Amino acid sequence: MSKSRLRWLKLLLFIALSLPFLWLLWQWSLLFTGKISSLGANPIEATNRFLGDTSLRVLLLSLAVTPLRQMLRMPWLTKLRRMVGLFAFFYISLHLLSYFGMDLLFSLSALLKDIAKRTYITLGMIGFVLLIPLALTSTKAMLRRLGPKRWSRLHKLVYISAILGVLHYFFMAKGNQPGPWLHFGVLLVLFAWRIYFSAKKRIGQLKRE
Ligand code: HEM
Repeated sequence: MSKSRLRWLKLLLFIALSLPFLWLLWQWSLLFTGKISSLGANPIEATNRFLGDTSLRVLLLSLAVTPLRQMLRMPWLTKLRRMVGLFAFFYISLHLLSYFGMDLLFSLSALLKDIAKRTYITLGMIGFVLLIPLALTSTKAMLRRLGPKRWSRLHKLVYISAILGVLHYFFMAKGNQPGPWLHFGVLLVLFAWRIYFSAKKRIGQLKRE
């Protein structure tokens, strides 16, 4: 993959990952100008749910980059992983902000009460907090400072965050909704691929020894 192609691909990916945010801005601008918006009768709840869905999907996409790279034998895919991960963090931060700002009107005591009382908020909050060190160490300079081994060990936290995100969805969903199960299925496939690939690599190494 040439450098200029990669640059174009990064730009396209950036636009694609910005679309949910731009769509949301557009819906709110419709609302503010008194026009019909797709956010329905409860735009605050719809916004928070939309951001929750987008967060989890982008987070799972960031986890899918390495398996896709291995399956399709496209090493350059690694160069897109950081952007996807940072977008996941961006959407999760917006999701938290929309809840904290529009639902709780920036009341820290209400947020702390919710974290202590509602299991799904506790799980979501831990999932968010775990992503903060990953976002802070996402630069090349931090990778060099920590060293590849420590850096990649730290970045395994993204799996725990994704598990917590799916659990958060299960705990908040009422009744037997397909959404949490669907995301759980995707997470399971990603884990299964990781286990299969590292077992295959080990067997290959043992044969060579
Ligand atoms: C890893 C972090 C997180 C992920 C992946 C995530 C994902 C999700 C998903 C998928 C939904 C369901 C959307 C739907 O119903 O279609 C949701 C709902 C929700 N999340 Fe999160 N979330 C995270 C963190 C948080 C945090 C930190 C908070 C607040 C402190 C939060 C508050 C909520 C609320 C209030 C709802 C909607 C509940 C309702 O409408 O009944 N989430 N989230």
